[in-house]
Amino acid sequence: MKVTILPIDEAHAASFRKSLDSVASERRYLAMVEAPPLEQVESFVRGNVANDVAQFVALDGQRVVGWADIVPARTYAIAHCGSVGMGVLSGYRGRGIGRRLLESCIAKAWSQGITRIQLEARADNSHAIRLYEHLGFTHEAVKHRGMRIDGEYFDTVQMSLLRHEA
Ligand SMILES: CC(C)(COP(=O)(O)OP(=O)(O)OC[C@H]1O[C@@H](n2cnc3c(N)ncnc32)[C@H](O)[C@@H]1OP(=O)(O)O)[C@@H](O)C(=O)NCCC(=O)NCCS
Repeated sequence: MKVTILPIDEAHAASFRKSLDSVASERRYLAMVEAPPLEQVESFVRGNVANDVAQFVALDGQRVVGWADIVPARTYAIAHCGSVGMGVLSGYRGRGIGRRLLESCIAKAWSQGITRIQLEARADNSHAIRLYEHLGFTHEAVKHRGMRIDGEYFDTVQMSLLRHEA
């Protein structure tokens, strides 16, 4: 099966939402445990397309099987910072799709003048953390009890990737 990586398009919104909902419903990795309503996801995608935000999807045929985005902050003094969100459907993990998605986003974020890419992951999310480390992210902090899922607390790690201009 050939999975292609493309910039997101409004036509992908519904399938992207299904994918987001599937990963969120695992209740292990993301801060949300279900996807927002379709109108909200459509509005997010529309905004990203209009503002040329770095958001890519992995497509198996017409189906979105993974996504990554680096959304820039809107406030003046932190507008150089972009925050990562990503996920790959469970049946598609461990095949390099996440890496391709994130590499595409990072390249686009740099080209748009973002100079700090940041993220937060559950401290026990070893696959995600390994991917970030392989792409050069460094650990900045541990947030104790950064997440609470089904009444259980989890530490989270904050990581960043800086663009050092010549
Ligand atoms: C994190 C995630 C997006 C990675 O996507 P992926 O397509 O599985 O990752 P890749 O196949 O590109 O692997 C990239 C690196 O991650 C690590 N990794 C991924 N899957 C792994 C697995 N099953 N076993 C061991 N390491 C794994 C490897 O270190 C790999 O590096 P390598 O290419 O040098 O071996 C995916 O696992 C996922 O969706 N997880 C649930 C959602 C999530 O955690 N989102 C991020 C929240 S911060």
